Amino acid sequence: IASNPMYIPDIDVGKLALVWIMAPHQLLALGLQGHTGTGKTELALYLADRLNLPIYIVKIHARMNPQDIEGSYVLDSENNQTITRKEYGPAAKAYRNGGILLMDEFDKASGELTSAMHLLVEGKPWPLEMFKETIMKHPQCFIIGTANTYGNGHDERYITSNQMDQAFLSRFMWLETQYPNVIQESKILEKFAPRLPRHLRNDIIKLANAFRDAALGPNRDGNIDDPIQCIFSTRVMIAWAYYIQTFGIFRTLKQSLDAVFLKSVSRDDAEIANDIVTKVFGDDIHKPLKNLLEKK
Ligand SMILES: Nc1ncnc2c1ncn2[C@@H]1O[C@H](COP(=O)(O)OP(=O)(O)O)[C@@H](O)[C@H]1O
Ligand SMILES: [Mg+2]
Repeated sequence: IASNPMYIPDIDVGKLALVWIMAPHQLLALGLQGHTGTGKTELALYLADRLNLPIYIVKIHARMNPQDIEGSYVLDSENNQTITRKEYGPAAKAYRNGGILLMDEFDKASGELTSAMHLLVEGKPWPLEMFKETIMKHPQCFIIGTANTYGNGHDERYITSNQMDQAFLSRFMWLETQYPNVIQESKILEKFAPRLPRHLRNDIIKLANAFRDAALGPNRDGNIDDPIQCIFSTRVMIAWAYYIQTFGIFRTLKQSLDAVFLKSVSRDDAEIANDIVTKVFGDDIHKPLKNLLEKK
C-alpha cells in the first residue's frame, strides 16, 4: 500500500524501528506508544511501503473476538450451491505469508483477545481455535502494535483503552512517538499548505504547542497541574492549515478552527481553549484570510 507522501518520519524513532526490523530475530514485537496523532499508524505504513512489504492492518476494538483475527468458516456459493469455506483472518494471513502485521490501537483489546494474541506476538506456533490448526510464523512477518497508553487501563483522555497484563506488555519493544518539533512541523506544514504565508504557518505551530503545553506540560510528559483534556495533534494542525485554504479568503480563521477543532473541545476546556487562541492570535482569529494575506 502506498504510504502518505506528506509523511516525514522522526529520525530517531524511524531508525530504531529499522534496527528492530533488520535484526536477525524479532525477540519482541514492536510497540509504538504515543498520544493520538503523533504518527504511529503512519510510521508502520511508511515502513511497509519503503521496505516493500505487504501490510495487514487489524483495527482492534473492544468487542473483537479471537476469530476476527484468526479466521472462521464463512458461507459462500459455488455452482449454485451453498458451501462453507475457510477464511483466514488478517493476522493469520500475515503470520503465514509474511509482511507487517499492524495491530492498530491494541490497547483497546479485551482480555480474551489479548490471551489469544500471546503466542502470536511471541512468534511461537500459533493455534487457530476455529480450524484446529496451528500455523508457524513466516521469517519475514513483523508484528507492530500501536497504543495511546501503556495499557494502564482507565485514562481520562483515552476512555476506551483497557488494562493489559504485564505479561503481554513485556512481549513488546516499546518506542515512543512524540509530536514533531517546531522545525519538523514547519516542514510538514510547508508541504501541506504551501500557499499560506510563513507568518501564518508559524502561528499555527505556535498555537498547537500552546495547546500541548496546557495538556501535557512543557516537557510533554504529563507533568502539569490541572491539564486540559483536548489534544491539538499534528493531525489537527495539518487539517486546520488545509481547511484554512479550502475555506477561502473570505472566511475567518475562527470559522475553520471551530470546524476542525474547537467544536470537539469539551465544555470544561472551552474557556481555556478560547484564552489560548486569543493569546496566540489576538484579533486576527476573527479576520478573514484575505486580510491576513496582505499582512507582511
Ligand atoms: N511526522 C509526520 N509527518 C507528516 N504528517 C504527520 C506526521 N505525524 C502525524 N502526521 C499527520 O497526522 C495524522 C495522524 O497520524 P497517525 O499516524 O494516524 O497518528 P496516530 O496513529 O499516532 O494517532 C497523519 O494522517 C498525518 O496527516
Ligand atoms: Mg493511529
